[in-house]
Amino acid sequence: MSYAEPVNVSRRRVLIGTTATLGALGAVAALTPFVKTWNPSARAKAAGAAVTQDISSIEKGQMIVVEWRGMPVYVVSRTPEMLANLPKNDTQLRDPQSEASVQPDYAKNATRSRKPEILVVTGVCTHLGCAPGFRPDVGAADLGGPAWHGGFFCPCHGSKYDLAGRVFQGVPAPLNLPVPDYNIEGTILTIGT
Ligand code: FES
Repeated sequence: MSYAEPVNVSRRRVLIGTTATLGALGAVAALTPFVKTWNPSARAKAAGAAVTQDISSIEKGQMIVVEWRGMPVYVVSRTPEMLANLPKNDTQLRDPQSEASVQPDYAKNATRSRKPEILVVTGVCTHLGCAPGFRPDVGAADLGGPAWHGGFFCPCHGSKYDLAGRVFQGVPAPLNLPVPDYNIEGTILTIGT
């Protein structure tokens, strides 16, 4: 950031961020209905208040979208097959160990999660903020055929992420999808603890 014009640059970034987030929400809304969650006041929400969601109804291999801080958060119930396929992607990824990526310490592991079977990532592409689509279909011809073990595909400029939200090489997105701070007690997911 240039110190010569801190106010203008800052405001521009806020506007860009807002636009990108709204675009992300709109795109996701078209694909996956948002789950109704306990919603705090608008003011508390803007400040990042936690939201809770009962995740017991997510079927294995399926994804729901929870809104937090005005952003879509993807919650995937990964199958044993999905988990077994994750290491097969490592040589194709930009940051397989998530060294440069944003996640809590408890999610800096091979599955990028507290519980291996539950993935929680922000559904905002790290390129320019579109909402990647959920593409769990192994071997999808349009995403690399046999080399595709399921993940997320961003329709804006073609970035691809695996089912741990790790970005592939050779796409515009520079980083893995961020993992927000969260907790799981029983079947209750709390995002933004
Ligand atoms: S915004 Fe996702 S690839 Fe550009």
